[in-house]
Amino acid sequence: MKKNITRVGVALVVLFGGIQLYSPERTNPPVDPSNTLYALIPVPQEVRTVLERSCFDCHSHETRWPWYSAFAPARWIVVSDVEEGREHLNFSEFRKYKSLRAIAKADMICEQLQNGTMPLPAYLSLHPGAQVSPQERDLICDWVESIRDTLFSLE
Ligand code: HEC
Repeated sequence: MKKNITRVGVALVVLFGGIQLYSPERTNPPVDPSNTLYALIPVPQEVRTVLERSCFDCHSHETRWPWYSAFAPARWIVVSDVEEGREHLNFSEFRKYKSLRAIAKADMICEQLQNGTMPLPAYLSLHPGAQVSPQERDLICDWVESIRDTLFSLE
């Protein structure tokens, strides 16, 4: 019995070591301040605070990589969420969205908060502090409403 437990233990250590060989890179590409959301439109400090706290880890180039993301298999999941998140919505590159696209993205931010689909549930279970309160959600939706005309008049 003891021998079997040792064997399973050794097998697990070897397996854990083996999967570390496939380690996709955790990147934080440099941020050009002239390309960010903040360069495009006025963003009140209260809105910035919520976005930076609850969304920037997956939707910007300023990801705070948690310690467990250093090791497979958690690493695979976190890297893939961040890459996919940045592809869909990137606050560090928001200025690159053309007018109508920027409006659509802004609308989606409010929508995702109203539906409770963002931040991702798995992320929330590990970062309970990232939960967006109903007051914060309303604050962000009001801000989205307030910038629509400005975004519409952009190129
Ligand atoms: C743990 C990573 C993670 C966090 C944190 C996160 N998101 Fe996302 N987000 C994703 C991923 C992955 C997708 C793309 C797949 C999907 O829609 O589920 C996405 C998609 C989106 C989209 C859809 C964009 C499009 O064009 O389809 C919006 C809008 C969005 N997120 C807003 C937010 C907001 C607002 C926050 C903060 C309150 C947030 N997200 C926090 C990972 C995250």
